Amino acid sequence: MSKQENSPAALPDEVVQELDAIAQSATHAIDEAQDASALEAARVLTLGMKGSVTRLFERIPTLDKSLRRAFGQRANALRAQIEAHHAARKSALEREALERELSGPKIDVTLPGRRAALGHRHPVSRTLDDIAAIFLKLGFDIAEGPEVELDDYNFEALNIPADHPARDMQDTFWIAPQSLGADEAALAGKTAILRTHTSPVQIRTMLSQPPPVRIIAPGKVYRCDSDVTHTPMFHQVEGLLVDRGVTFAELKGTLDAFVQALFGSATRTRFRPSYFPFTEPSAEIDISCVHCGGAGCRICKQTGWLEILGAGMVHPNVFRAVNYDPGEVSGFAFGLGVERIAMLRYGVDDLRSFFENDARFLEQF
Ligand code: DAH
Repeated sequence: MSKQENSPAALPDEVVQELDAIAQSATHAIDEAQDASALEAARVLTLGMKGSVTRLFERIPTLDKSLRRAFGQRANALRAQIEAHHAARKSALEREALERELSGPKIDVTLPGRRAALGHRHPVSRTLDDIAAIFLKLGFDIAEGPEVELDDYNFEALNIPADHPARDMQDTFWIAPQSLGADEAALAGKTAILRTHTSPVQIRTMLSQPPPVRIIAPGKVYRCDSDVTHTPMFHQVEGLLVDRGVTFAELKGTLDAFVQALFGSATRTRFRPSYFPFTEPSAEIDISCVHCGGAGCRICKQTGWLEILGAGMVHPNVFRAVNYDPGEVSGFAFGLGVERIAMLRYGVDDLRSFFENDARFLEQF
């Protein structure tokens, strides 16, 4: 390094030694760096704006004119050498880092990803949707009513006066009528409850439109009741069809078509005389057992039949309550419990399990 072929002046030995020392310590600093950030620190110390190599160039103007050229050439060569060394160290470190990553804990790119668990519809919602779909195909519309209902609509207009024993079977929750949201005057003297059945939607629908009517009304109902087959809240689907000349034959045909669509075409129905204040005549409808087909099993308690809904011809007093003329129109109504049907469909024997939100139960459907 000290040999100089260039005239006019060779660099003095001590300058050459100084340059060698700078080159050496710069090389050393770069070699010492064990990762990208340490290498960057070494680069700043040597090749950076205030670095040991860069600062050499600031010295040129202070040198004797005869030495400037030789010093400049030397400093340039030195800088090029350190830059090359830095670049080599940089790629060596990058390669090492990559190798470490590749030889580290293995990533199995063929492992299946972790899916977010997708929920699905609740068995009661599914049953309700399926029931609604069948009636929609039969030409029924869907009507809705409030769950906080006037006593008038839940009982009175349905031919269940205050002292009627049928009220005992539908013990319920009483509500401040203001929560209905109607204006004060309209609510004067009225009582509100959580509806005990979806039948008041019959009243609301008929009050809001002239005949003919063909609706189902699905929704939640509430009763002060709780055991294996009763929960304080459950779902019903009400049905109402009103027109001129509707007979019991249409009721039977409609319900037969419904149960066959829901439970299969082999399903038979049986109408038993019954009593509901808002229908006359009234019937309770059984279907042939969905499990044993009628032979008798544990589910149907060896009778071969399962009770699934109540129905009848709309009582003339109900028509009078909504200003329909019972001499002009007739109709049928029915009401069914959605949970009861879901229990039969899915073989569930405790109604309460539908509402316990136990994923182990719900995931089975
Ligand atoms: N509302 C009755 C109940 O909750 C069910 C019912 C029976 C509805 C007969 C009807 C009907 O429309 O005709 O027990």
